[in-house]
Amino acid sequence: MITYQFISTLADAKPNSHLIARSASSLLPESALVDEMRQQNTVADTRFGCAPFARITLLPDALWHDALTEGLLAALRPLLAVPASADIVLDVTDIGEVVLAQVLRFLFNQAHRLSDLKLKKTDDAVRLTCITALCLPEQRAKLETIFRQQQAIALGMVAARRLADIPSDRCTPQFMIEEAQKLCATYPALRCEVLNEKDIVEQGLGLLHAVGKGAACPPRLLAVHYNGVSDGPVRCYVGKGITFDTGGLWLKEGAGMYTMKYDMCGAANVLGLMLTVAELKLPVRIMGVLALAENAIGPEAMQPGTVATACNGTTVEINNTDAEGRLVLADAIAWASQRHPQARYIIDMATLTGAVVKALGYELSGLMTQDEPLREALTGAGKRSGDEVWSLPLDARLKKQTDSAIADLCNTPTNNAAISASAAWLLHHFCPPTIPWAHLDISGTALWRENGRSVASGRPIPLLVEHLVGDLSRVTAAPYPA
Ligand code: BES
Ligand code: MN
Ligand code: ZN
Repeated sequence: MITYQFISTLADAKPNSHLIARSASSLLPESALVDEMRQQNTVADTRFGCAPFARITLLPDALWHDALTEGLLAALRPLLAVPASADIVLDVTDIGEVVLAQVLRFLFNQAHRLSDLKLKKTDDAVRLTCITALCLPEQRAKLETIFRQQQAIALGMVAARRLADIPSDRCTPQFMIEEAQKLCATYPALRCEVLNEKDIVEQGLGLLHAVGKGAACPPRLLAVHYNGVSDGPVRCYVGKGITFDTGGLWLKEGAGMYTMKYDMCGAANVLGLMLTVAELKLPVRIMGVLALAENAIGPEAMQPGTVATACNGTTVEINNTDAEGRLVLADAIAWASQRHPQARYIIDMATLTGAVVKALGYELSGLMTQDEPLREALTGAGKRSGDEVWSLPLDARLKKQTDSAIADLCNTPTNNAAISASAAWLLHHFCPPTIPWAHLDISGTALWRENGRSVASGRPIPLLVEHLVGDLSRVTAAPYPA
C-alpha cells in the first residue's frame, strides 16, 4: 500500500522527490529555474538543476480546477508511467475536492501494475511508495479524512483490479474463492461463506448452475459478511462474476472475446468494496454476494431453449446463452433477498450488456432502478466521487421484453430493443418490491485505458463508498431514504 504524509513547507520534503505543483503556487522555492518554468503557460517539466528534487513538474492552474479532471490525469499519467522517484510531493493547496479525490485514487492505484502478475519479464523500474501532500496547516485536518478514505478505496480497487487482470485459465470461480478468503483473512470483521456446486443445486440456484455447468471448473457462490456493528439493517451488494464469457453455445465472435476475462469485474468490485469498508472500519452491516461461473462450451453447456428455475421458484427460458449475466445475477439477488428480507437495499453491478456502452460510452455507468430515493442518492454520490452514473428507464413498458411462451420469463427479447433496460427488467423480478434495489451496468466503466490497453478500473467502488458513507450519516433506523 502506498503511504502518505503532510508537510507545509518544501524544506520538509524528502530529498530526491518528484515535486508536482501548481504553476502559481506560493509555496514554491524562489529560484531562476522555477521563475522560468512559471513563465511557460503549459506543463513545465525538468529533471535538471532542480536539486534537492529529482524532478519538478509545474502544471497550469486551469488543470487543477477543471471539474472533469481528465486534463490533470492526462498530464499525470505519462509522469507516473515511469516514475522519477519513489516519493511524490503533491501540491494540494488549491484543488477542488472532487478533482483531488480522483487524483489521489489515480496515485494510490499505482500500487497495482500488470507487470505485478509476473507474466512478463521486466526490470521493475522505480515504484511510487509515498505521497507527500504539500498543504497549509489549516487545511490539514480536512485533507487527512480525504487521504485516508481515498487510500482505503484504492486498496479495494487494487485488489479487485489485480484479480480481474489475472487471465481466466488461472482465475476460475474456485480461484476467486481462495483469493477472497486470503484477502478477507486480514480483517476479523469479514467472514466468507462459500456455496460449492452441490450447495448451489441443493439450494435451488438453477440459473447460476445452468450457466456454470458447462465449464471444467464448476460455479460457486460467495457471500462475504461484514459486521462493523452487531445490529441494524444489512446493505447488500451483488456482483456478476463470469470468469470467462465465451457466449456459451451462442458463441461470441473471436475478435471481441479476448476481454471477456473481465466479465467478473462486478464480483471483483463487490469484494474490493468489502475490503475498503473493512479497512475504514465503517459501523455498518454488509453482505457482498459474488455469483461465480464460467460461461463455457462443452457437452454439459446449457442449450438455447433450456428452461431453468431460480431459487425463488421463477422459471426462465434461456433463449440466448450469451445473456448469462442476468441469469447468475437473478439467482444471487433472490438468494440475497431471502437471506436478508429486511435489507436496507440491494445494489448489483455487472458487465451486463455491450449496449450500455453504445448508450452511455466509457465514462458513465448505467443506473437502472425503480426506487427514486436510491436513484437520487447514487446519482449524487457519483457526482461527489467523480465516479458517475446515468439513468436508463426501467418500468412496466418493458414487460414484453421478457415474455416467454414456455416459462415465467425469457432471458432475451427477440427484437434487439432496449437491451440494457430489458436485462434490468428481468432482474427486477428477483428482488421483492419491499427492498429498494438498483442495478449498475458497468460494461463501459469497469475497464480503463492504461498505456494504450484496456485493464480493470475498479469502478464503481469509489461511487459505492461515497454512497455508503453518505447513507450512514442519515438516520439508519428509518427506511430508505430516512
Ligand atoms: N459480458 C457480456 C456483455 C459485454 C459485452 C460486456 C462487451 C463488455 C463488453 C454479456 O454477457 C453479453 O454477452 N451480453 C449480450 C446480451 C445480448 C445477448 C442480449 C450483449 O451485450 O451482446
Ligand atoms: Mn455473455
Ligand atoms: Zn457476460
